[in-house]
Amino acid sequence: MRTRLVVGNWKMNLTVEPAVALARLVLEHVRKQGGSTVHTVMCPPFTALTSVRAVLDGSPIALGAQNCHPARSGAHTGEVSVEMLADLRCQYVIVGHSERRRDQYETDELVAEKAVAALTGSITPIVCVGETQQEHAEGRSAEVVTRQVDALIRHAGADMVRRSVIAYEPVWAIGTGLAATPEHAQQTHATIRQTLHGSGAADVPVLYGGSVTVDNAASLFACPDVDGALVGGASLVAASFCAIIDACERQQR
Ligand code: PGA
Repeated sequence: MRTRLVVGNWKMNLTVEPAVALARLVLEHVRKQGGSTVHTVMCPPFTALTSVRAVLDGSPIALGAQNCHPARSGAHTGEVSVEMLADLRCQYVIVGHSERRRDQYETDELVAEKAVAALTGSITPIVCVGETQQEHAEGRSAEVVTRQVDALIRHAGADMVRRSVIAYEPVWAIGTGLAATPEHAQQTHATIRQTLHGSGAADVPVLYGGSVTVDNAASLFACPDVDGALVGGASLVAASFCAIIDACERQQR
């Protein structure tokens, strides 16, 4: 059975105090529910990792980071290495988010290098793929995600991809309130799964991301190839993030 995950991507939000408060509220809820089979992951900004770590230590919620550098160490001002994240007991790291592909000009090759660096340091990469609004309008969603996943397999190798998590995040759905329909999500996830299958990686969890809310979570989780969610805005409010975790739990297959 594939692992199901609900991951909160806090992006460049929350100073230490509200970050700790949010982590405490989510942890309280997850503990109350007890025995969850959905893996919950929270990815605060680097500046709050240590403090959130203190809240989550020994808990069922995993800590994740939002980025890493592919090099082990060295002259890379402002960057953070996998070893540094592992030192804080991060278990996951998001790589290739479309905001970084756009703002930092990250290429498929660099994203794959980061994924390999993460896995080499025993951290699971959550590799983001997804088409832009224009590509979507041109009906090229399947082509784009296939190209991105193929590039990941080519650069990182099938063995590495088998140990990763993929997040399908259509760029046009991120932060817009316009989530993909369950039909579109399912279709694209099935395409991704087929591409992964060719490399013996069909069991890799594929998360959906892009305007996931309390209202649409259940219908997205009901899709057979959707294994959870990468949640941005709605992960910043404990009540909505917890409700999304619960919706995923209810869809246990
Ligand atoms: P959103 O962001 O849920 O705010 O759309 C998702 C993401 O970018 O990971």
